[in-house]
Amino acid sequence: MKYENLLITTDKEVAIITINRPTKLNALNKATIEELHYAFKALEKDKNVKVIILTGSGEKAFVAGADISEFASFSEKEGAKLAAKGQKQLFDFVENLSTPVIAAVNGFALGGGLELAMACHFRVASHNARMGLPEVSLGVIPGYGGTQRLPQLIGRGRAMEMILTAGMIDAAKALEFGLVNYVVEQEHLMDLCKKFAGKISNNSPVAISYAIKAINAGFNNSINGFKTEIEAFGSCFGTSDFKEGTTAFLEKRKANFPGA
Ligand code: COA
Repeated sequence: MKYENLLITTDKEVAIITINRPTKLNALNKATIEELHYAFKALEKDKNVKVIILTGSGEKAFVAGADISEFASFSEKEGAKLAAKGQKQLFDFVENLSTPVIAAVNGFALGGGLELAMACHFRVASHNARMGLPEVSLGVIPGYGGTQRLPQLIGRGRAMEMILTAGMIDAAKALEFGLVNYVVEQEHLMDLCKKFAGKISNNSPVAISYAIKAINAGFNNSINGFKTEIEAFGSCFGTSDFKEGTTAFLEKRKANFPGA
């Protein structure tokens, strides 16, 4: 697929997706959401890619939200369809990707932008980052999972405050709330994300995919997380990665995981 709104680069086993609509502060229009879906799908299939870092182009924004100009005249039905399709195509898709995704939040992460960062497996922010779900100021509510993932990450009271005030929090507050794991100067943001990606890449890709599945299961009301963990734990014993990991440990050498 030819990407009009994304830049994709790879650095060893790490792929970097940069959302590239800087004049619109990387707002998520329909085309960008579709491209992101295909990019994540392709990178997940690529066994050379162990970690994906998602960021926004420029120094000002990660993603300033869903593209307001695209949905301003939508009907109730169209609004519901927009949320359902977007959740399936991108937000739930990223959350359940078997390859870990780190959000490098390099500026404004608002509305759909924060929802996208929250769908990633964890987040690192630069000092200039500002985060919020301003939807109620537009007469709408977060529709890409924000009402669910924000309380999961920071607690119900803080999520209520952020969503009902439609306000923005700075990077320090996001760190205090646990919305991001680390805050660094913008010029160090990608290096720190790559450092985490490097650490992740040393581990078994199969075990990592099972860990993501088990962790996510605990946040899905229709699945028993503990049961999922038991099953995934058992499945690990049938993998070549498990054989290699345990053998390497006993032989006092670094594991070289086949990823199967
Ligand atoms: N959808 C569509 N376009 C957007 C956008 C969005 N969510 N966010 C920013 N843009 C566009 C602006 O319309 C502007 O385009 P233009 O130059 O063609 O007029 C361009 O990006 C730059 O934004 P601008 O508002 O001029 O920058 P700023 O520095 O003054 O303000 C923000 C930055 C992030 C505070 C402001 O852009 C904003 O409030 N954006 C909307 C955030 C939002 O409500 N998101 C939730 C959507 S559900």
